[in-house]
Amino acid sequence: THYWAVVPAAGVGKRMQADRPKQYLLLAGKPVLEQTLIRLLSANIFSQIAVAITPGDPYWPELAIVNDTRIITAPGGTERADSVLSGLNALADKASDQDWVFVHDAARPCLTAMDIYLLRDELANEPVGGILALPSHDTLKQVDARSIMQTIDRNTIWRALTPQMFRYGLLKQALTETAGNPAITDEASALELLGYTPKIVAGRPDNIKITRPEDLALAAFFLEQQALWLE
Ligand code: CTP
Ligand code: MG
Repeated sequence: THYWAVVPAAGVGKRMQADRPKQYLLLAGKPVLEQTLIRLLSANIFSQIAVAITPGDPYWPELAIVNDTRIITAPGGTERADSVLSGLNALADKASDQDWVFVHDAARPCLTAMDIYLLRDELANEPVGGILALPSHDTLKQVDARSIMQTIDRNTIWRALTPQMFRYGLLKQALTETAGNPAITDEASALELLGYTPKIVAGRPDNIKITRPEDLALAAFFLEQQALWLE
């Protein structure tokens, strides 16, 4: 079995309110996207990594990692799902339908090789695949116009992270068939819509997505902690 990776990195980072897309902000001395790619490469299982980049993106060519032969680029699209599908298509010559593809957000630079192996090993015998996720620690309320309707059973709710690992052929089919549907906010939701039941694997809580300005300092802290415990 071959493993491939697709990294959607064509967002504008609106919520980050920075002078450039958040994947190019510096984190521990390197652009976020470079940190993310270093983590994926460090797992040493991917035959190739397709990175979806906004056409004409001036920051990408500046990364130290662009000439690595294990990395190829694909044109990013309007929505995250479009960027992921573009990345999958860029691997079409080499990947087989039964191969595994890991889709991982550019904005999650604190991913550990440990979590990559966990997802791979826990779901090795699954026909479809699944995702890293986190249980919710807070009590959850269903709300209508700021009035609490009920408390939701916390044990049934998980927060979706990336990587999300699926069979290459199935994921491509699912994203192609659901293209343009705004409800598709992650890979699993595309497969769910086709009637499949992806699995979840409990990931690490430090695998955060850099979304708002305060997340950059938090990610820097987690990388420091990981250097102490993991490397
Ligand atoms: N992404 C992408 N193509 C898009 C939109 C998003 O490749 N058209 C990528 C982002 O670069 C990011 C990941 O998908 O790595 C997760 O998306 P998100 O955190 O929402 O990033 P942005 O869309 O850039 O941020 P915002 O929603 O705040 O604008
Ligand atoms: Mg977004």
